[in-house]
Amino acid sequence: MKGVFIVFEGIDGCGKSTQLRALSKRLQAYGIEPLVIREPGGTPVGEQIREILLERPLEMEPLTELLLYEASRSELTRTVLRPALQAGQVVLADRFAMASLAYQGYGRGLDLTLVRHFNTIATEGIEPSMTIILDVPVEVALARKRSAFDRLERAGLEFHERVRRGYRELAQQTPGSLLLDGTRPASELAEQIWKAVESLL
Ligand SMILES: Nc1ncnc2c1ncn2[C@@H]1O[C@H](COP(=O)(O)OP(=O)(O)OP(=O)(O)O)[C@@H](O)[C@H]1O
Ligand SMILES: [Mg+2]
Repeated sequence: MKGVFIVFEGIDGCGKSTQLRALSKRLQAYGIEPLVIREPGGTPVGEQIREILLERPLEMEPLTELLLYEASRSELTRTVLRPALQAGQVVLADRFAMASLAYQGYGRGLDLTLVRHFNTIATEGIEPSMTIILDVPVEVALARKRSAFDRLERAGLEFHERVRRGYRELAQQTPGSLLLDGTRPASELAEQIWKAVESLL
C-alpha cells in the first residue's frame, strides 16, 4: 500500500497524545495533512464500543474485552485505515493492535497467540510502517494523569507493570518499532520522533 502508517503505543499517561499532536504539526508544516485515528473508536460503532470499554464501569471477562477492542479495530481498518493507506495518506494512530497484546495479553493474561490471531483478522494483516513506544515508569505515568481514572486505570499498579513489561518485550520483537525513554522532555522526544519519521518519508 502507498500510505505510511505510524502508531503510538505505551501505557496510560506515557505521552502518546502529546507526541502524536507534535508530529501532526510537524507533518503539516512539511505540507502533509495526516489522518489521525484512535483506538478504541474512530468510527460510529467504534465510538460506542469505546464508551462501553472506557466510560462505563462494567465488569467483563478478558476475552469479552479483547473481542470488543477487535470489533472496533476491524470496523476502523475496513472503513477508515485501509482506504486511507490505499489512497497514499499518512495515518497517525493513538494505539493499534500492539495495545491488545500489551493490555489483554500481558496485562489480563490472555494467550498471546490468541491475541495475535484476532489482531490479524481485525487488521487484515495491515502492519504499521513504524511503531513508537514511549516507555515510562508506571508511577510517573499515573502521576501525570490528574484526570478521572478510566476503567483500565483503576486496574491498579501491578496490571500496569505487566503492560509496561509487555510493551518493552514487544518492542524488541517487532520490526519497525522505536522504544523511547518517555521521561525525557516532550520537545526532545518530538525531535527524536521527527528524525525517525523524516527518514521514513
Ligand atoms: N515528555 C513528557 N514529560 C513530562 N510530561 C509529559 C510528557 N509528555 C506528556 N506529558 C504530560 O503527561 C500527561 C499525559 O500525557 P498524554 O495525554 O500525552 O499521555 P497519553 O499517553 O496520551 O495518555 P492516555 O493513555 O491517558 O491517553 C499530560 O499532562 C502531558 O502534558
Ligand atoms: Mg492520550
